Amino acid sequence: MKKVMITGATGMLGRALVNTLKPTFEVIGTGFSRASDSISKLDLNDQEAIYQFLDTHQPDILIHAAAERKPDVCEQSPEQTLALNVQATQFLAQQCKTRKIRLIFISTDYVFDGTQAPYIENSATNPMNFYGQSKQQAEQAVLVCSELHSVIRVPVLYGDVTHLAESAVTVIAEQINETIPSEHDHWAIRYPTHVEDIALTLKDLLKQPESLGGIFHISNHQAMSKYDMACIIAEHRNYPRSLLTPQPTPSQTAQRPYNCALKDTRLTKLGISHQRDFSIAIKHILSSQ
Ligand SMILES: NC(=O)c1ccc[n+]([C@@H]2O[C@H](COP(=O)([O-])OP(=O)(O)OC[C@H]3O[C@@H](n4cnc5c(N)ncnc54)[C@H](OP(=O)(O)O)[C@@H]3O)[C@@H](O)[C@H]2O)c1
Repeated sequence: MKKVMITGATGMLGRALVNTLKPTFEVIGTGFSRASDSISKLDLNDQEAIYQFLDTHQPDILIHAAAERKPDVCEQSPEQTLALNVQATQFLAQQCKTRKIRLIFISTDYVFDGTQAPYIENSATNPMNFYGQSKQQAEQAVLVCSELHSVIRVPVLYGDVTHLAESAVTVIAEQINETIPSEHDHWAIRYPTHVEDIALTLKDLLKQPESLGGIFHISNHQAMSKYDMACIIAEHRNYPRSLLTPQPTPSQTAQRPYNCALKDTRLTKLGISHQRDFSIAIKHILSSQ
């Protein structure tokens, strides 16, 4: 059984990866502040600790999902962002190459500026905010290091959350109310993708006989604004839709791209697709909160 190490295993995507890959692979998850009995603590800013961890566990595959992924936090803490998102990724890429570990690096649709959607895997990147720039630099470090390493770009994610504010999608359920009006972005187009669909796709990719380096796009195909998502959530909660106001212009601190639709041409050729209906999936998640 192949050994898969997953960084960011305490995070929203990492938890889904651990659960989905566990029956098929020997999984070693690492986290940081939320490490537990089953998830090892590994500070990715500590190169000596990474070195020792890899020596001890000797994984065949490393899925690197840990990152600072909140654009506003990235703008406010550029040094910490570069250390975790870029320098740690570069060190992991070099270590994986030396140790012949297959590296799968999780990146973002925010490496694009959103003006020329849809984007294929080799479309030119041009990030609009510091988070996107840090992930673009990390992608370059990974791709330059080895042609066997993979970069996986994903759009806004949702799934089982520890608290509603954990995802930019489920937080909308906290922002809407039965009696108080609220405004929601109706400018940017998003493709909310369930973390379990990302995990199932990666599981299929890992089963491919040949090593598949380079860039892959994984994305749900349903396009919607945050206002559209708010309407679906309001319907589920039986809140009046009249209390939701669409906001026609962008409002967040760090600049966001307009439409980063990711075309998954490589996955399509491989016949790999995991898509679920947003409306059904979000209702399921909110019912269990
Ligand atoms: N969420 C999205 O909408 C979205 C969209 C596009 C791309 N992505 C990408 O998808 C990946 C996973 O995102 P996510 O939403 O699952 O992230 P998340 O929930 O914010 O989790 C971040 C993870 O990074 C870990 N981490 C933070 N600092 C660390 C350090 N110094 N050393 C080791 N680990 C550290 C955290 O560990 P502790 O919590 O234990 O400290 C946590 O496991 C990221 O690469 C992100 O850029 C996410």
